[in-house]
Amino acid sequence: MIALSLAEIASVVGGQTHDIPDPSVQVTGPVVRDSREVRPGSLFVAFVGERVDGHDYAADVVAAGAAAVLASRPVGVPAIVVDDVQRALGALARHVVERLGATLVALTGSAGKTSTKDLIAQVLRRKAPTVFTPGSLNNEIGLPLTALSATGETRFLVLEMGARGIGHIRYLTELTPPRIGLVLNVGTAHIGEFGGREQIARAKGELVESLPADGAAILNADDPLVRAMASRTKARVLLFGESGEADVRAENVRLTAGGQPSFSLHTPSGCSDVTMRLYGEHHVSNALAAAAVAHELGMSADEIATALSEAGSLSRWRMEVTERPDGVTVVNDAYNANPESMRAALRALAAMGKGRRTWAVLGQMAELGDEALAEHDAVGRLAVRLNVGKLVAVGGREASWLQLGAYNEGSWGEESVHVSDAQAAIDLLRSQLRPGDVVLVKASRSVGLERVALALLDSGAEGEVSAR
Ligand SMILES: Nc1ncnc2c1ncn2[C@@H]1O[C@H](COP(=O)(O)OP(=O)(O)O)[C@@H](O)[C@H]1O
Ligand SMILES: [Mg+2]
Repeated sequence: MIALSLAEIASVVGGQTHDIPDPSVQVTGPVVRDSREVRPGSLFVAFVGERVDGHDYAADVVAAGAAAVLASRPVGVPAIVVDDVQRALGALARHVVERLGATLVALTGSAGKTSTKDLIAQVLRRKAPTVFTPGSLNNEIGLPLTALSATGETRFLVLEMGARGIGHIRYLTELTPPRIGLVLNVGTAHIGEFGGREQIARAKGELVESLPADGAAILNADDPLVRAMASRTKARVLLFGESGEADVRAENVRLTAGGQPSFSLHTPSGCSDVTMRLYGEHHVSNALAAAAVAHELGMSADEIATALSEAGSLSRWRMEVTERPDGVTVVNDAYNANPESMRAALRALAAMGKGRRTWAVLGQMAELGDEALAEHDAVGRLAVRLNVGKLVAVGGREASWLQLGAYNEGSWGEESVHVSDAQAAIDLLRSQLRPGDVVLVKASRSVGLERVALALLDSGAEGEVSAR
């Protein structure tokens, strides 16, 4: 964080100082909510959680060098006491980003936020110091903590914004007002909580409504609900996608034999070829979104294409490919799933598995509402059409729909099987995998199918992890 005195912080957040002998002491270290991350000069933010009360750690964190605690009650050690710790944290983030002089880039969407944020960061940091959301910390606490980790040197601050309802994104944009706002797609994630796709579009579009007139709204030309957000912003609009009207677009999209997308990138400043290290066609859209942001910030098509071609996966369990010493390849995409990414992952599996035995270990895609049966059925059918060697459908009703889809498409007997849980899948795979096989593991987050991938890697000893 940029250095601020305790007195200044107290005034920014409207708090009372308690047990602070010297209010001119500066906070220089990171602002953290986890006591284990405290460093000398830190500000420790004490939240009261369901099981843990951060206030109980106050003495420890000060002993470990924290300058003070941001708290909701006095704690006997230096503290800035406020009514609402979360609001105070937000106010501090806002104050700090206003003083930073960095360009703020925010992105949202139903799927691909973390992957795209990681791509944007890997492109922009070639040009200037960049701070970005670690992992998926995209909510009202993770966002200000990320913003507060910026320093005086930071030129780009890239922030993932998540939403589970109307008003969430607006709140986040008030904490850290972006100049560049990117909306990836409007899918079905959390559709139950939102109550329909239009509502999701309304919520995600709050991002572009917040942009200033001299800002840029970067919108997916291929997604009609996102494209339509152009009318909701004062900012200049830049479109990305495969559509001909996109300012930043991909031509000649194909998958390499390894399952990695390759395309020629066109931006208003030129064109250049990209072959990604990431797996799966869904990353084309993510890469174009990242390219549009980088173009807006003055990077050339060549610079962007090189960065995209070298970018790896910074967050785990997203098409994470590991080679076991015995030659089995495990593709762990268990972080999440939706119909589009299931299709992309299966296509990548088919490409990687040419001449090898392929396995698709798939589980439920959650939150599909009325479309659930048809979508699971279609994925099961696609597995057969792509000649996947064996489909292992894991779990309850939705898994049986996957298997039935495969069965009806012409797979019978050994080619598709339905097992009740992750352990059964692990047992089956352990007994049947042979050297050289390729295994894809994918389902919605709630299924926790990464257990299967991790168990397979355990049994295969240490392997080399590529494209992390
Ligand atoms: N552009 C995309 N369209 C559809 N699905 C995607 C896209 N990018 C990633 N995904 C899928 O969503 C899962 C989660 O990706 P992630 O980047 O973590 O998204 P988010 O942060 O929005 O949850 C990935 O495992 C992948 O299956
Ligand atoms: Mg995420």
